Amino acid sequence: MPNAKISSFGCYVPPGVLTNQDLEKMVDTNDEWILSRTGIRTRHIAAPEMASSDLAYEAARICLEKRGLDPKALDAILVSTVTPDMFFPSTACLVQNRLGATGAWGFDISAACSSFVYGLTVGANLIRGGTHQRVLVIGADTMSRILDYTDRSTCILFGDGAGAFLLEATDEPGDGYVAFHNEIDGSGGESLKMPAGGSRLPSSRETVDQRLHYVKQEGQAVFKYAVRKMEEASLAVIEKAGLQPSDIKVLIPHQANMRIIKATAERLGLGEDRVIINIDKYGNTTAGTIPLATRDAVEQGKLQKGDYVLFVTVGAGFTVGANIWRWSI
Ligand code: UT7
Repeated sequence: MPNAKISSFGCYVPPGVLTNQDLEKMVDTNDEWILSRTGIRTRHIAAPEMASSDLAYEAARICLEKRGLDPKALDAILVSTVTPDMFFPSTACLVQNRLGATGAWGFDISAACSSFVYGLTVGANLIRGGTHQRVLVIGADTMSRILDYTDRSTCILFGDGAGAFLLEATDEPGDGYVAFHNEIDGSGGESLKMPAGGSRLPSSRETVDQRLHYVKQEGQAVFKYAVRKMEEASLAVIEKAGLQPSDIKVLIPHQANMRIIKATAERLGLGEDRVIINIDKYGNTTAGTIPLATRDAVEQGKLQKGDYVLFVTVGAGFTVGANIWRWSI
């Protein structure tokens, strides 16, 4: 059976930056509160003409160029996003067309902050099944389009960004994908959602007047669940892999809150040098956080060929995702 390896990656954040000081002028908040409660200093915001498929395309283009791969060689494109350009066609179709990836099929994955890890799990198993050689997994979100910039409890948290991993088949023993542990718990659905715009509450004058097309979050409920599940999912996937926490060279967690990340690392007994934190620069970019943090890990020399890397995340749904890979680049 072939295995899947990560053979390239690419990231894109739009150039516009929104600082805590900018937010102080928009809502009743302050830099000290945001920094101490979340760890965020700045986040990138897309220009009005840019949508998630544009961010996804840029990340994909960089990823494929680094590998020198013609987009026509792709077998599938999976786009993880909670902010598609529109309900349909899927963002995967938009990106496929723009790349000229005429040999690929694909679809969008909706699992909020866990969707990139779910994309890795699905992509790896398409390759392991023997039917696919090259799968592009993209996480792209333009969260600024669904944030209520009058709601201080949510608008300070998120930013826009995208990242792509190229997965390819490998026959090298011990290389690439190792294990996954993913869970969903729909009983948590009320804690983090965008209420309107779907078939339950279609867009109407009333839904717009009631500001129901924005992210609504019960922060503390999500926080408590995330702290518990980030640890549990990490330990579960480490066990499935037949490893110990100390075997994990780098923990690449979803970047939702610095306090959640630090609690997870501490519970796993991983020192600060083995955990990637870049929430200060980008905020929570939903499906973009894990590829963006992976880029930082590689650029900082913390993630090298042969290392075991643990990706772990918790998001709306609730959704929980954990993957272990052996880094191949
Ligand atoms: O990626 C998807 C998953 N999402 C997450 O994992 C997010 C999980 N949750 C969190 O990260 C945290 O719960 C938040 C950062 C969202 C909030 O932090 P918290 O420590 O849980 O604060 P809180 O909601 O309990 O609010 C504490 C106080 C409240 O004031 P009172 O009632 O104590 O007077 C809030 O009104 O802080 C107030 N507050 C703010 N103050 C200044 C809430 N937002 C702000 C703000 N600036 N932006």
